[in-house]
Amino acid sequence: MTESVVPPMVPPTEEQIAIVKSTAPVLEVHGVTITSTFYKNMHGDIPALHEIFNQANQQNGHQARALAMSVLAYAKYIDNLAVLGETVELICQKHASLVIEPAHYNIVGKYLLEAIKEVLGDAATPAIIDAWGACYWQLAHIMINREEEIYKEKANRDWRPFTVEKKIKESDEVTSFYLKPKDGKPVETYKPGQYITVKVAVPQQEWKQCRQYSLSTSQNPEYYRISVKRIDGVDVKDPSQQAHPGWVSNVLHDTVKEGDSLDLTFPCGSFFLDSEANPEAPVVLISGGVGVTPLMAMLNTLVDNGSERPLTWIHATRGQSAYAFGDHLKAVMKTKKNWHAVVYNRDLTLSGDSDNYKVLGGKLDLPSLDRNADLYLDNPNTQYFICGPDSFMVELKDILVSLGASAENVKYERFGTGDVVREPKPAVTGGCPVSHGSATAGMKCPVSGAIVEQSA
Ligand SMILES: Cc1cc2nc3c(=O)[nH]c(=O)nc-3n(C[C@H](O)[C@H](O)[C@H](O)COP(=O)(O)OP(=O)(O)OC[C@H]3O[C@@H](n4cnc5c(N)ncnc54)[C@H](O)[C@@H]3O)c2cc1C
Ligand code: HEM
Repeated sequence: MTESVVPPMVPPTEEQIAIVKSTAPVLEVHGVTITSTFYKNMHGDIPALHEIFNQANQQNGHQARALAMSVLAYAKYIDNLAVLGETVELICQKHASLVIEPAHYNIVGKYLLEAIKEVLGDAATPAIIDAWGACYWQLAHIMINREEEIYKEKANRDWRPFTVEKKIKESDEVTSFYLKPKDGKPVETYKPGQYITVKVAVPQQEWKQCRQYSLSTSQNPEYYRISVKRIDGVDVKDPSQQAHPGWVSNVLHDTVKEGDSLDLTFPCGSFFLDSEANPEAPVVLISGGVGVTPLMAMLNTLVDNGSERPLTWIHATRGQSAYAFGDHLKAVMKTKKNWHAVVYNRDLTLSGDSDNYKVLGGKLDLPSLDRNADLYLDNPNTQYFICGPDSFMVELKDILVSLGASAENVKYERFGTGDVVREPKPAVTGGCPVSHGSATAGMKCPVSGAIVEQSA
């Protein structure tokens, strides 16, 4: 695949932008049907793409929703794309970590426009399809350019074979993998918090599967370390129920042995501790379960750099058996006067041993902590990093902001695809959801079938 097959950048016309904006509500109604149709048709015709796309996210619909939501957000903000900067960066980092190439955009563009036609039928007039095509390519060019910049930062922009040098059990459910490049050259440089993608064969699928894993320790030239939780297929809310056991995590735990080879890409991701931005500002790391991994890379980087900035680590775990890196955290906290950890354990199997390492029972409870000694809320530059289950991150970010933290200083990393769903979107019922501007006047509403009239 080469870049030359990508059409040149031709900005959409004002009229096309207006059409896309005004048809955005239709996408809100049909978005997931369109993107599900898109994936079904594209994977049916080009089975090799099964290897790039996470098939679990295809089966559970998460990726169809992620794509629909991003296209919808794009349509809404098409005349103010700066609003989408962080989202586009997150997607481009994920794409780069999967070595998505410019020519892939031709395939996606073709199947996406065909899916819009298939789902909306006659309502998808040629003007609407042309407008979406032009706007798709505008976004595609933004993404292709950003992905190219990311590739240029890497010494090696392709998959690279690594040897599993060591496997270390960190808890009953988390195991670390020390991964050394087979070519003997150094690993890529990375920022603490970033992830790599691993590709492995799984028994459930004909095609290999890709998964992202955060690098779980600080930069060194010789190896990457990732720490993987086994998804054992037990429903955490109701352990008597069997859930889908994780395909890749179980292969990594059970099948991949020390000395085996694993294909990886290079570190990517927009969730990282930037040591140069506000280098004196306090850092608050908040983790739940295996969400400890990217934060451990941040902590170890601060240790390596001899950082003196104030730091609190707040962690939530079920208890001793599920607690990875506990001994390391305890040892590190003892090395600095202005660093301390507060660990919540639900089954009360842990015990604390100093002011630098407190252990509490029950659920992580930010408002009960000291706003300055623990959370540094009166310092406007304090940096907060959260990683854990979706609801945990959303809730804690909201609490921090309500306590006075600035939202832009609170970052979180999702171990999934797409943005966190905060609340169900209200369904569009009755009437015509298409906004009635001059660009759509006279067109047929794709939902109600009514002819759109121009509003005053
Ligand atoms: C940026 C990033 C960083 C990450 N870092 C880490 C890390 O450091 N450590 C770590 O352990 N993980 C990490 N992850 C998660 C990791 O990438 C995998 O998602 C995880 O290991 C599960 O993969 P799996 O193949 O084992 O499970 P999958 O087979 O992908 O299943 C994942 C989940 O989806 C559910 N599911 C899937 N299909 C269905 C279905 N059809 N019906 C019902 N439920 C279904 C499963 O029950 C399971 O809970 C990270 C993810 C991202 C995006
Ligand atoms: C303008 C076009 C595109 C848009 C708007 C888009 C949007 C997205 C979004 C929102 C995500 C989820 C990111 C996350 O939360 O982690 C994603 C992931 C992904 N995209 Fe794209 N994408 C586009 C083009 C492409 C192309 C051309 C390919 C290559 C065939 C591709 C392959 C993928 C893959 C493999 C993932 C990860 C899926 C997963 O882990 O389940 N995308 N994309």
